[in-house]
Amino acid sequence: MSAKVAEIFETMEYGPAPESDKTAQEWLESHGRSFGHFINGKWVKAPKGKSFTTTNPASGETIAKIQLGTKADVDAAVKAAAKAQKAWAARDGHDRAKYLYALARLIQKNSRLLAVVECLDNGKPIRETRDIDVSLAARHFYHHAGWAQILESEFPAYEACGVVGQVIPWNFPFLMLAWKIAPALAAGNTVVLKPAEFTPLTAMLFAELCLEAGLPAGVVNIVNGDGSTGAEITKHEDIAKIAFTGSTDVGRIIREATAGSGKTLTLELGGKSPTIVFENADLDSAVEGVVDGIWLNQGEVCCAGSRLLLQEGIAEKMIAKLTKRMANLRVGSPLDKAIDMGALASDEQYQKIDRLVKLGVKEGAKLVQPGKDSCPATGCFYPPTMLLNVQPSSTVAEVEIFGPVVTVMTFRTPEEAVMLANNSRYGLAASVWSENINLALDIAPKLKAGVVWINSTNMFDAACGFGGYRESGFGREGGREGMFAYLKPKYLKALPAYKETKSALSPAKHVSAVEGVANIDRTAKLYIGGKQARPDGAYSLSITDKNGKLVGQVGEGNRKDIRNAVEAAKKAEGWGKSAHHLRAQILYYIAENLSARSDEFKKRLVQVTGVTPAAAQKEVDESIRRLFTYGAWADKYDGQVHTPPARLVSVAMKEPVGILGIVCPDENPLLGFVSLFAPAMAMGARTVIVPSEKYPLLATDFYQVFDTSDVVAGSINIVTGHRKELTKTLAEHDEIDALWYFGSDAAGSALVEKASSGNLKRTWVNSGRQRNWFDRAQSEGEEFLRYATEIKNIWIPYGE
Ligand code: NAI
Ligand code: MG
Repeated sequence: MSAKVAEIFETMEYGPAPESDKTAQEWLESHGRSFGHFINGKWVKAPKGKSFTTTNPASGETIAKIQLGTKADVDAAVKAAAKAQKAWAARDGHDRAKYLYALARLIQKNSRLLAVVECLDNGKPIRETRDIDVSLAARHFYHHAGWAQILESEFPAYEACGVVGQVIPWNFPFLMLAWKIAPALAAGNTVVLKPAEFTPLTAMLFAELCLEAGLPAGVVNIVNGDGSTGAEITKHEDIAKIAFTGSTDVGRIIREATAGSGKTLTLELGGKSPTIVFENADLDSAVEGVVDGIWLNQGEVCCAGSRLLLQEGIAEKMIAKLTKRMANLRVGSPLDKAIDMGALASDEQYQKIDRLVKLGVKEGAKLVQPGKDSCPATGCFYPPTMLLNVQPSSTVAEVEIFGPVVTVMTFRTPEEAVMLANNSRYGLAASVWSENINLALDIAPKLKAGVVWINSTNMFDAACGFGGYRESGFGREGGREGMFAYLKPKYLKALPAYKETKSALSPAKHVSAVEGVANIDRTAKLYIGGKQARPDGAYSLSITDKNGKLVGQVGEGNRKDIRNAVEAAKKAEGWGKSAHHLRAQILYYIAENLSARSDEFKKRLVQVTGVTPAAAQKEVDESIRRLFTYGAWADKYDGQVHTPPARLVSVAMKEPVGILGIVCPDENPLLGFVSLFAPAMAMGARTVIVPSEKYPLLATDFYQVFDTSDVVAGSINIVTGHRKELTKTLAEHDEIDALWYFGSDAAGSALVEKASSGNLKRTWVNSGRQRNWFDRAQSEGEEFLRYATEIKNIWIPYGE
């Protein structure tokens, strides 16, 4: 009998198990297969507007006609959103929570329709839209209903940004809509969202749910269109914040388009995420991990495990197992509940993937496509693909293919695995496979990725922040950290603008040597790698007192000096891993030494800035106090342990941002400097600092304080000189991970945001507004620590 059953299993063919699309087709018909925009709670269709069509990529059929949003459409949507925003934000949090809860319920009630429409429009399998896309979207609305409910008590110093512009991609259309809209509404913002042109339909269905939930008009506006419509949103003057998910190229365009506009920005971009399999991994589980990691959603996943790194001893075995498994993956009709992979989202995407795979083969890779023959011949179907013998420098190992293609490389030691894994411009996710928990937990923090899955892949939860490092973008979505992206500190609106002063800020003309001025005590050098260093250009700048009298000289740092400072910071990598207790001790020690020299600093402040001795004393005292504050924080700004709804924990670790550039303000040249370097030091960030251009001597006098306070060489580096020039160099530097701009002018922030698009470093700028460095509510604490750290979520399963 049992032999017979085994036989039956052997010979059994999967019959098709199609999901009916009847209701979805009826829904499309009810709209005449034609959609405009959803603005101010109404459907809007221009009688003569341009339009495009969306197709079902599995069949090539046109599903619906969609209007292409123009500037006028975007204007109307922003106007409606702006009109609705104040009242929406002013509502009791409980009131907003009820709307979000209602949306979550409606998503659940309509989950099958949503799943089928998504499937038709995108080509992804119904199994995934049903079990992943739609259910995670509902969970996102539930979770954020909660944040709306407790917003006031959890974020008392924060308020909504205003109108938020959101542009999303086609790979997870409905889920990305949820990731964008739920936190925005919870925080009291109103939104103008543009779905991707290939997959607009579930957003149209969502608009209907908004009507059904009775959401006030203007709170959610959806404008259809392509990149040109997206560009109208990202440059719109009345939008306060832009959230984008999509390609790194477009992310870069948006970074530049929003530079200097005062808009805040979060970017969730591409990736080339590694899956690392160690010799002591459970290989059968690892095979399933790879299947899920790269073939989920046809590999059109930003965090897809597209680089498989195998330890040499098991490489052959693993490849054999994978090849066998690949042959069993079923590619076919997305509506068939028994298929593993559906169609790619568009023919463009098919062409792109095919081109890259061919290039990979040309560059020497070996192509493995065991399921090729059973892959449907028509429609955008691409078989599961593996590229072997891939060199780390080949194109397919570097660029995001965004398709069902995994590249395989091998490594010998854990160190080599980490090196290979981090050898990428991206830093979104990583997956580590080993039955040795010590090894896995040792590797995870070393990976430059916002999310690390141990013995698992593609785990998501609304409570756990998701987002990347490096060219994978900045900002997190989900959880507390995700809420910050949709909030701004309340004090911001009261900050006065800097007056545009031109020459007053620039230091005196070049002097190539000390001109025999009697009261010059010394020429301050730069501070690089724990030593005083002569500026590369061998030029100095003259610093005058309040009466214009020469009081000293500082080095005129240039591009080369910044490079040297970054090199020194790179060498000080150990600082980022130093004990938090040690950081606290050093900060207290600095405070102690500043206190011992308090008189000297006080005199210097009086001399150069012309403040009264009492005001100078106050600045020194507050600086000492601030150092204590960050000494206190150094071992208290801890991460979290999340408990998502599964048998695992997700450990949200706070890591230093890496190498941080800091441009200091002119005003309060001591307190401003301390307020900025101290939080960075407390969090283990390594810094390259441009001190006050006008009063740099307060920072150069500080070298001796550092020297006597056990400060680790290279953890803090100081380059004096022309602020604008040095800022530009910092912004353009590819090895600087983040940049803070607090220069006393309006133009610098724009420069920073624009010039930082190269490596998409995370920026924090003052937008030309001056904070009060004595006001602790705006000049110290959590906000500074947040910008000095990245959150990495490490997912750890438990149980057998
Ligand atoms: P894309 O980045 O162009 O599209 C994403 C969204 O941005 C769409 O809504 C699009 O209309 C909009 N957009 C395009 N240009 C814009 C602009 N200048 N300003 C504002 N919005 C703009 O992605 P695309 O072209 O659909 O795909 C190209 C490649 O990008 C893919 O092959 C894939 O490699 C990558 N990609 C990565 C994603 C990820 O999540 N990592 C998501 C989508 C695409
Ligand atoms: Mg489509």
